[in-house]
Formats: sequence, C-alpha cells, structure tokens
Amino acid sequence: MKIAIGSDHAGFELKENVKDYLKELGHEVLDLGTHSTESVNYPEYAEKVAKAVSKGEAERGILICGTGIGMSIAANKVEGIRAALVHSVYTAKMASRHNNANIITFGGRIESPEEARAFVKAWLETPYEGERHNKRLFKIKELEEKCKGGDDV
Ligand code: RB5
Repeated sequence: MKIAIGSDHAGFELKENVKDYLKELGHEVLDLGTHSTESVNYPEYAEKVAKAVSKGEAERGILICGTGIGMSIAANKVEGIRAALVHSVYTAKMASRHNNANIITFGGRIESPEEARAFVKAWLETPYEGERHNKRLFKIKELEEKCKGGDDV
C-alpha cells in the first residue's frame, strides 16, 4: 500500500521511526515532511498528507504532531478525509472497522515508538466492516457537501 506520512517538529522523531516500520511491513512511503526538529506549523503538513490521500496519490495517511489533536482537526478540513485521532490499539482498530478512517493521527509527545507501531499495525490490518456504517459515512459526506460555501452554517 502507498502511505503518505507527515509530522511537525514535535512528531518528527516518531515519524522517522514509523516510516521505517512501514517500509519493514513492505509499504511504499510518501514522506511529506517535516524533515527536522526545527519548529514548523502542523496545518501545513496536515494539508500535504490529506490532499495526497484526497487526490488518490496515496491510499492512506499518517500524521503526527505533539498530541495528534491539531493534525486531526486540520486534516478533517480536506474533502474526503476521515482522520481519526487514535490513542490505543482498540481505537486504531475501530477507526478502520467502523469509521473507515483514511488517516490516523497520534502524538509524538504521548506515544512511544512501540505504541505507535502497534496502532499503525492494528489500523492497517483491520478491515472496514461496511454494512450499517455505510449510511453513517454517507451522512458525513452529506454534511461535508452541505457545509461547502458556508450556506448551511
Ligand atoms: C506544537 O508545540 C504542538 O502544539 C503541536 O505539535 C500539536 O500538538 C498541536 O496539536
């Protein structure tokens, strides 16, 4: 699978670790930065990864900031993105099983490399369940469409 990955300075070291793990698992990695611990602004990297996934340049994406919160807020502004902030193997599995999340986010200041790797594995290996969840994801898509242009807000 082709997976886009991005981080800010607070997620940089964990991104490098997760990137190695993805390659070990046999995935193709599109690293969209940042490339050092120099301070940067996380929305720029959320945009790069979310747009790569939205345009189909990558099948899925992973975003890491200090907590994962800012990355999830920013990535979910991009059309077609379902970014899930995960904090356990259970939430990583459910992000796929019920929400068909095409991006996961987590925190470089929270998760250890072992935890992050376990989340990534759980999310990638768990299939989307479909069925009753399709109508819920469809409603999210409808909400996205309704909010376009701000007419409905
Ligand atoms: C950067 O200090 C920090 O705010 C950022 O990495 C992230 O945690 C925001 O949600």
